[in-house]
Amino acid sequence: MSLDWVPLKARVVACTDCPLHAKRNKTVFGVGDEHADWLFVGEGPGADEDAQGEPFVGQAGKLLDNMLAAIQLKRGTNVYIANILKCRPPGNRNPEPREALQCEPYLHRQIELIHPKLIIALGKVAAANLLATDSSVAGMRGRVHQYRGIPLIVTYHPAYLLRNLADKAKAWADLCFAVRTMAGLDPPPGGT
Ligand code: URA
Repeated sequence: MSLDWVPLKARVVACTDCPLHAKRNKTVFGVGDEHADWLFVGEGPGADEDAQGEPFVGQAGKLLDNMLAAIQLKRGTNVYIANILKCRPPGNRNPEPREALQCEPYLHRQIELIHPKLIIALGKVAAANLLATDSSVAGMRGRVHQYRGIPLIVTYHPAYLLRNLADKAKAWADLCFAVRTMAGLDPPPGGT
């Protein structure tokens, strides 16, 4: 796929490539700075996102915004937020492999256009689809992976953290690791 932003967004709005289109209210394309250094990738829209057409606007989204603020980031400013799926799976079930596969070219094209320095995969579904692995989040945290040559870090999904408060400390450690990783990706001016 080689579409630019405007035709890409139009293609997603009109998409009927998988059965999820039948029950959606709105497609959820993604939001933020189209030249962001940071790309956060979630799983798929929930009810709030399906209603509003924007990713992470429900309870999990509030936590994601707080996680961003904790590392001095803000939705829309040097940050882009997207999902593996552009349409809501009924009852918030996990994406079927076929749905994720059909939707993948959209996210891939977004990533090509954004050209982020670092991708943060939020949760197992995002990580599994981006890295083509079946590992657990626990098994993928704390290392820098690669998605088509772009560094990628895995952390817990905010919705999981809302149910598992004890793991918030691990997510905080992951965010600190991401900040250090990002700093290491920027060579010091004039330095080696
Ligand atoms: N969970 C996700 O993975 N993405 C959203 O946009 C909202 C909730």
